[in-house]
Amino acid sequence: MTEVFSAYDLPVPSYRSELTAVGRGTPMGELFRRYWHPVATSEDAGATPRKIRVLGEELVLFRDVQGHAGLVYPRCAHRGADLYYGKVEDEGIRCCYHGWLFSVEGRCLDQPCEPEGGLHRDRVRQPCYPLREYHGLVFAYMGPSQHRPDFPLYEVLEEQVDGEQVVCDDTSIGSGGPVVVDCNWLQHYENVMDPFHVPVLHGTFSGLQFNERLAALPKVRFEYTDRGIRSHQDRDLEDGGHLHRISELMVPNLRIVPDPRVRKSGPAAWISWVLPIDDTSFRIYTIARVADPDELRTAKSTFAGRPWSELTEAEHREMPGDYEAQAGQGPITFHSEEHLASTDRGITMLRRLLARQVEAVARGEDPVGTARGRGEHMVATTAGNYLEEMAR
Ligand code: FES
Ligand SMILES: [Fe+2]
Repeated sequence: MTEVFSAYDLPVPSYRSELTAVGRGTPMGELFRRYWHPVATSEDAGATPRKIRVLGEELVLFRDVQGHAGLVYPRCAHRGADLYYGKVEDEGIRCCYHGWLFSVEGRCLDQPCEPEGGLHRDRVRQPCYPLREYHGLVFAYMGPSQHRPDFPLYEVLEEQVDGEQVVCDDTSIGSGGPVVVDCNWLQHYENVMDPFHVPVLHGTFSGLQFNERLAALPKVRFEYTDRGIRSHQDRDLEDGGHLHRISELMVPNLRIVPDPRVRKSGPAAWISWVLPIDDTSFRIYTIARVADPDELRTAKSTFAGRPWSELTEAEHREMPGDYEAQAGQGPITFHSEEHLASTDRGITMLRRLLARQVEAVARGEDPVGTARGRGEHMVATTAGNYLEEMAR
């Protein structure tokens, strides 16, 4: 009799929380807190305080009348009223309860019920995080002050030629899905080092979701870089040409995926961050240098010619895409139940890289790409779609 592996015999599942959990004090959460992260668009920071959730923390975002964006801990330093109900003024945000006024740096500027507006108000600080605005996104540094790295600029965004502009996007994972994706951030991040799913999920199983040039199985090589990992994907094309596609990740959550529509040959001009909202949800922020403002929107996958948001449940099952595959792995996938194969080499390498950086932080060392003391600096990438028209 053939032996059957009954689901009844499955051991209790588990996952590698040292790679998935993002809260303060967790190993990966501390790695995340050594980098600047986009937490909102510049438009989100306005005169009405807005609740945001980042790396498992609840925060309040606002912009004072002078134009400075602020990101504060929601509980007022006085007696804990929620600054979400505060009002924005010239120089900061005023708490609804007793009117204490805090600047974007958390300084207490007024205590209206206290004699002379608070003789000791200098002793009070509202906890907050430093912000930096870059190409339409608000970046926050949520880690220990003494480890705050210099703010990186990205060469691909800075080298605009005539007629190009830089735009940002916060609407979805790109290939179709909700703005907030209901699974762990690592499931999406690992997907970038999984070029083998492209010909299956996006090339045949659900019909053509990207471009026919990506429908063939590529020859793939992975390599570590000084900031992360990249994959080289080579395909001989039916027209006799050749496509050399390079995707790149930079620790801990930056992804550079070249245009999946392969509309031109050359370096990628979009970079995105996979921002964990908490352990079981994330969202994507993208900045792109484009010739046509519509370029990002038209790069998104279509399903029988329609956008993801218009599909019925039956159609999601008929034509699943990245969202269905990744969220389908569960809120946090069970690593204990995986059977990694030779084509999962990119996944293994990425997990090893992240684990090494987590250990470095735990040892008191700086993780990769967190230099301090040299000011703004440029970060370069080799990601792109490199097309050769002639057969080799
Ligand atoms: S609780 Fe905010 S001013 Fe009193
Ligand atoms: Fe995909």
